Amino acid sequence: MATIGLIGAGHIGSQIARLAVANGYDVVISNSRGPETLSALVKELGAKAHAGTALQAAKAGDIVVVTIPLRNYRQVPVEPLAGKVVIDTNNYYPERDGHIPELDDESTTTAELLQAHLPKSKVVKAFNHIYAAELTTHGQPAGSKNRRALVVAGDDPEAKKTVTRLLDTFGFDTVDAGPLEEGWRIQRDTPGYGPRRTAEELRRDLAAARRYRDQ
Ligand SMILES: NC(=O)c1ccc[n+]([C@@H]2O[C@H](COP(=O)([O-])OP(=O)(O)OC[C@H]3O[C@@H](n4cnc5c(N)ncnc54)[C@H](OP(=O)(O)O)[C@@H]3O)[C@@H](O)[C@H]2O)c1
Repeated sequence: MATIGLIGAGHIGSQIARLAVANGYDVVISNSRGPETLSALVKELGAKAHAGTALQAAKAGDIVVVTIPLRNYRQVPVEPLAGKVVIDTNNYYPERDGHIPELDDESTTTAELLQAHLPKSKVVKAFNHIYAAELTTHGQPAGSKNRRALVVAGDDPEAKKTVTRLLDTFGFDTVDAGPLEEGWRIQRDTPGYGPRRTAEELRRDLAAARRYRDQ
């Protein structure tokens, strides 16, 4: 079974770690303060979890999840992530992250920024529009009626398939929004951002999304 590396172990990172361990994955979790500050979470997760630095999590992960405040994305290690599937959960909140001009003028998107920072990685946007607590409470087995769906966006079809399988294991259907540049359709302030949606509902939400400049 693969190892999932987590860069960020806050609300989302800790929840993805819980889902991963519950589904048989090993995890290496990391934060900005250092592995010693993650001992309670490692204890809770059990023998399949280890804490490390962000560099160690990047090296250890077959799949690596970047789930940090967006303002810190340039701190993500580059070389150890080359060739890997990197899941980007991040959202842009200027009041938290400071203003990023190319997001303010909508000339790029959050996950494209991470992809530009990690040119040799296969970045897939996922998990950005579900509240952390719901990750461990909304999942259902494949085929369940009205199963919740989550969006993926990415430029590498195989990487999206990998993440789609992971989401299915975690209890969610998937809707493919297209390449990373379409990821804005599920950013904050769009219809699909936050509420529980089936795949069909989520497809409608993606189609109804509008850029800030058109609102
Ligand atoms: N909360 C949600 O429900 C939710 C839902 C979907 C998407 N998101 C998005 O997902 C991202 C994470 O959200 P969150 O709520 O989980 O944030 P959070 O609770 O504030 O956790 C952030 C984590 O990132 C770590 N971190 C910060 N800089 C780092 C770095 N350079 N290297 C390694 N780790 C670093 C922090 O470590 P320290 O604590 O040691 O600083 C902390 O573990 C954000 O972009 C957010 O907008 C959040």
